Amino acid sequence: MGERPLYIVLIGAPGAGKGTQAALLEEELGIPHISSGDMLREAVAKGTELGRLAKSYMDKGELVPDEVMIKLILERLSMADCQKGALLDGFPRTPEQAKALDEALAKEGKTIALVPYLKVSLDKLLERLSGRWICRNCQAVYHMVYNPPKDDKRCDICGGELYQREDDRPETARRRLEVYFAQTAPLIEYYRKAGLLREVDGERAIEEIHQELRSLIEKARESKQNDCP
Ligand code: AP5
Repeated sequence: MGERPLYIVLIGAPGAGKGTQAALLEEELGIPHISSGDMLREAVAKGTELGRLAKSYMDKGELVPDEVMIKLILERLSMADCQKGALLDGFPRTPEQAKALDEALAKEGKTIALVPYLKVSLDKLLERLSGRWICRNCQAVYHMVYNPPKDDKRCDICGGELYQREDDRPETARRRLEVYFAQTAPLIEYYRKAGLLREVDGERAIEEIHQELRSLIEKARESKQNDCP
């Protein structure tokens, strides 16, 4: 029996650790990590039309409009490397995006397998965002206290320059958290009702969380494998 496609949606507030965990899981699972934020930042860096539009929202900590995001991510999901599944980080972020994703997968007879929800308190989120540094070249994520690079200014993996995201400045980070609680947190109930949500304590060590996610994914994989075709 061939493996069924595996679509996982990582959900959690800004700074909860979605990107950190997705990077650890990507290679092990053999499915691409699709970060909506990384895709937008790449468009901003290239100065494309999408990048200019996205920047006007991102700089204020607001969400990029649904129609733009839905088109961007569904196009990415239709690519060959996503046919066996994907690890979604940052999308969906509104009920409209969640419905669009469900519909697009359903058209191909596919479904989401699992929605791990990384739970982290507000104080910790602010602390994580203010201490985050990112590699300009490979997007690896560090924290100056919790996950420091060997050299303050350079990436351990590729030697690229480390920088702090504009939207991690305190006022913008606070606004992103407000936007998350108003517009994205309702998805927690949406996925709980669908029976897909698994709460994960996101305040533990990175490796401990990683091991719990691996075991949740293994269980989801087994139960999908046992589903009737
Ligand atoms: P996006 O890039 O998606 O940002 P986000 O959701 O705000 O999430 P973050 O990247 O801030 O956090 P994370 O959970 O990945 O945490 P990380 O692993 O880095 O979105 C940016 C913007 O783009 C949005 O504001 C919006 O404008 C736009 N956008 C994107 N998607 C959109 C969509 N679908 N619709 C509309 N607009 C959209 O970890 C954080 C820090 O903590 C790091 O320093 C890390 O080293 C550290 N850390 C991680 N885990 C731990 C741990 N267990 N213990 C201690 N430290 C830890």
